[in-house]
Amino acid sequence: MRIRSPEFIWSFSRWCHRQGWKRGARIVKTLNWAIHKCLLPSEAVVGNDIVLEHYALGIVMHPQVKIGDRCRIFHHVTIAAESCIGSEHFVIIEDDVMIGAHAVVIARSNSTLVIARGASIGAGSVLTKSVPAGEVWAGNPARRIGEVGSRQLAVDSRQ
Ligand SMILES: CC(C)(COP(=O)(O)OP(=O)(O)OC[C@H]1O[C@@H](n2cnc3c(N)ncnc32)[C@H](O)[C@@H]1OP(=O)(O)O)[C@@H](O)C(=O)NCCC(=O)NCCS
Repeated sequence: MRIRSPEFIWSFSRWCHRQGWKRGARIVKTLNWAIHKCLLPSEAVVGNDIVLEHYALGIVMHPQVKIGDRCRIFHHVTIAAESCIGSEHFVIIEDDVMIGAHAVVIARSNSTLVIARGASIGAGSVLTKSVPAGEVWAGNPARRIGEVGSRQLAVDSRQ
């Protein structure tokens, strides 16, 4: 991971947050915004090998977000939660999920939204419901349009 990449700067801001350096975390988050024009919360819980395509341009996330390993998120994705910071409700994005460009994911107030392992969300979708593992959802409002090929899931999990 390159030191100037949005993924690295984000992981550094999360590390600062975990150390209790809230001000430092905010400064690093602002640095990511200044360089890459993204707003990535230092409070988020994020796994390994996440890819923010196109230098994370325009990605905006609520702090109540948990993301698994090897997820791929394209530019101008918004991940929103209507619950307040510190609540028990989250947007949970499990391992190997793909979220296409300009998609908007909204967890409604007092509810948790889960995008389960290996699911894909189409470009430009507006998603307000949980998505089962391995399904492809797209459109506004997003609906199930198919399944991610089992071959692709197997390849993804080996990487
Ligand atoms: C959602 C996605 C993964 C679906 O791929 P797929 O499983 O191959 O789906 P298909 O192309 O077979 O399309 C199935 C149907 O869903 C529709 N569909 C596909 N993507 C859609 C989208 N993003 N929004 C609305 N409808 C969509 C297709 O028009 C098709 O409809 P039809 O059956 O009426 O003809 C893909 O279309 C997508 O949006 N990828 C995002 C990639 C991206 O953001 N790239 C950025 C590069 S800079």
